[in-house]
Amino acid sequence: MRITVTVDGIEYADDVEPRQLLVHYLRDKLGKVGTVVGCDTSNCGSCTVHLDGHSVKSCSVLAVQAHGSEVTTIEGLARDGKLHPVQQAFHDNHALQCGFCTPGMIMQAIDLLADNPDPDEAAVRHGLEGNLCRCTGYQNIVKAVRDAAHQMRPGAGPDVERVSEPHVSRTKSQVSGGER
Ligand code: FES
Ligand code: FES
Repeated sequence: MRITVTVDGIEYADDVEPRQLLVHYLRDKLGKVGTVVGCDTSNCGSCTVHLDGHSVKSCSVLAVQAHGSEVTTIEGLARDGKLHPVQQAFHDNHALQCGFCTPGMIMQAIDLLADNPDPDEAAVRHGLEGNLCRCTGYQNIVKAVRDAAHQMRPGAGPDVERVSEPHVSRTKSQVSGGER
């Protein structure tokens, strides 16, 4: 089936098998390997991306279901060489150990903060409960999300903006066809 989907601000048109999962389309076809597969059974959240602005586990979505939609991956967050505030907060708070869960955690955290810009610890833990960290680094992850919330507040600083998505330039539109 032919799909057209905008990923990290770039439009792609591709033929996909009806059974192909969005996570495999992103990784294998588009090379977006920052979105990782931890379980393939929609339990771990490591494959979390944003579909039309909301977090989804991309191993539980078919590529054809993304037709006509906008997808943002971890690779689409940084802009002009500057990390997204949530990425920066994870870095600043040492919120990763092996880092395998980190892309999904960050994508989920951004969606959480869009709904609740000032979550307390319980709200962060609740918002991230669908994302598992095998290194059990939850303490610093929670700290990072709350730090990001603080940084993203209006007036927090001249370089920080309240970020929704996609966090990329829309000037480079590219329609691809066939094999890359
Ligand atoms: S790989 Fe999708 S939830 Fe684990
Ligand atoms: S940092 Fe290793 S799985 Fe979370």
